[in-house]
Amino acid sequence: MKLLVTGGVGFIGSNFIRHIRQEHPDWEITNLDKLTYAGNLENLKDIQDQPGYHFVKGDIADRKLVDKLLSQGFDVIVNFAAESHVDRSILDASPFIETNVKGTQVLLEGAKRHGIQRFIQVSTDEVYGSIDSGRFTEESPLSPNSPYSASKTAADLLCRAYFKTHHVPAIVTRCTNNFGPYQFPEKLIPLAVTNALEDKPVPVYGDGLNIRDWIFVTDHCRALDAVIQKGKLGEIYNIGSGNEKTNLELIRKLLEQLDKPQSLIQFVTDRPAHDRRYALNCARIATELGWKPAYSFEKALSATVDWYLKNESWWRSIKSGEYSRYYKKMYLKR
Ligand code: NAD
Ligand code: DAU
Repeated sequence: MKLLVTGGVGFIGSNFIRHIRQEHPDWEITNLDKLTYAGNLENLKDIQDQPGYHFVKGDIADRKLVDKLLSQGFDVIVNFAAESHVDRSILDASPFIETNVKGTQVLLEGAKRHGIQRFIQVSTDEVYGSIDSGRFTEESPLSPNSPYSASKTAADLLCRAYFKTHHVPAIVTRCTNNFGPYQFPEKLIPLAVTNALEDKPVPVYGDGLNIRDWIFVTDHCRALDAVIQKGKLGEIYNIGSGNEKTNLELIRKLLEQLDKPQSLIQFVTDRPAHDRRYALNCARIATELGWKPAYSFEKALSATVDWYLKNESWWRSIKSGEYSRYYKKMYLKR
């Protein structure tokens, strides 16, 4: 099996590549990544020289490059490449349109021209918008509220259109909030853990009662592995663990685990159009593909905290770079 993975040195992509190397050592992987602020070659340092793994620096929206790469012959494309942070999409939506919308269209066009057998679009639960009670199914209407989620929704619909119109064998997955090793410290869990370790305030947006459903990244990777092998073409699969937590509950738990005072919690101005709750019905992937989460939330969260404790140089070098300018812009005005 020959896989083209895009965005593979980001958080989920790098965990996915490590998972595939372990589970399917005979699968060949080419990783196309633009190395934006979120792409970090350190994330796959242990794998970079292994046979069967190739890295290409480049943009998924670069049509010529994608065409040239796909002419090498691939069976599967797994598209992780994206601008992924909601707050950044509020500051400037342009790169989100360029990568998440145009980039996905360029890949779909390439998949059409080069007879790709499976195109996996790694999407998000945020395309459904917010839900106060109950759970979204794959048939729920799409109602994105941020420029990030609107760009991901556009990409999902392009997959649908290329499947219907051109028979591109696309499958869309919509996962809930991931956590685990190598997550960029702009996202809630690594931000809270690393700020607390530095005895800095942990910003909580609004009243802190927004709910997210947290899934350990390896469970998401296992689900994508199942979709590659058994997923139905043209289908959409929700992926989630059912670990619903308010942000406040989660941050309190993290501070407890780190033996840091709750007084580090600092309530700040809310995110505009902040979705109140995400929750998915994941019956389809369970019944059709036999996938269910394997990791307990509590154990995975403490393993994640341990990882950040043991990998201080990884997050410290990120926090001292471009990120520090973003952080100032984002939080000092709140
Ligand atoms: P991330 O921001 O950590 O990584 C994104 C990666 O994509 C980086 O390596 C970056 O360099 C690369 N990239 C960005 N623009 C590119 C371009 N134009 N061409 C090639 N590479 C480019 O993101 P993540 O959290 O790992 O998310 C990966 C995917 O999963 C995204 O599509 C995201 O929408 C989706 N997703 C994320 C979550 C989550 O909780 N993090 C949940 C559901 C879905
Ligand atoms: O639901 C899946 C999505 O999860 C993915 O599609 C996105 O790529 C990913 O970034 C994530 O989006 P969220 O906006 O839910 O994640 P984030 O970590 O930014 O925020 C989680 C919650 O915590 C959200 O309610 C906002 C809040 N928050 C976030 C930050 C960064 C805070 O209260 N304080 C913060 O400093």
